[in-house]
Amino acid sequence: MSGSHLDSVKAGPGINDNGSGSAAILEIALAVSRAQYQPTKHLRFAWWGAEEMGMIGSKNYVNSLSSANRSRIKGYLNFDMIGSPNPGYFVYDDDPTIERTFKDYYATIGVPTEIETEGDGRSDHAPFDNVGIPVGGLFSGADYTKTAAQAAKWGGTSGQRFDRCYHSACDTAANINDTALDRNSDAAAYAVWKLSE
Ligand code: TRP
Ligand code: ZN
Repeated sequence: MSGSHLDSVKAGPGINDNGSGSAAILEIALAVSRAQYQPTKHLRFAWWGAEEMGMIGSKNYVNSLSSANRSRIKGYLNFDMIGSPNPGYFVYDDDPTIERTFKDYYATIGVPTEIETEGDGRSDHAPFDNVGIPVGGLFSGADYTKTAAQAAKWGGTSGQRFDRCYHSACDTAANINDTALDRNSDAAAYAVWKLSE
């Protein structure tokens, strides 16, 4: 299962947070259909509401599942903020198989990754994790500052936040780094394919 939150904060339009993840999984669902891909495992896509108000949609969804239906979800992949304008390439350090799958993709394109540390459990994967469903995801950074070492490996501007428009009015279409959105969307698609084969 893959999910992204479709809501934004009131302060702005929320294009990186989280039009980016929402668009990526929509494109993946369309690509699955175009390819007539018939995976062994079933695929499910979710666009959450009210993440910014405390993950209300994803919590409600997980709470509404019977324990039998919970156990049918073999993994949940979360995509929240994947086109940050001064991007980092962060992989969630949760389920080892999911983490490895994302890292394998990044290795093929020669882009180094780091473990996501900007607030574990601050997105829609948390309700899944809390009931023991394996989780993972990608993230390109929010209000933390890019270090000199990170700018050396990823480019961009050190001493500046990954997303200086985080939760503000300037989180518009101009606030997307196309390369980051493209790479993360490809990594997400790769993982959706690989993990469902
Ligand atoms: N979920 C947060 C938001 O929508 C952003 C965020 C902060 C985040 N830390 C994270 C997302 C770590 C994924 C992983 O405002
Ligand atoms: Zn947000």
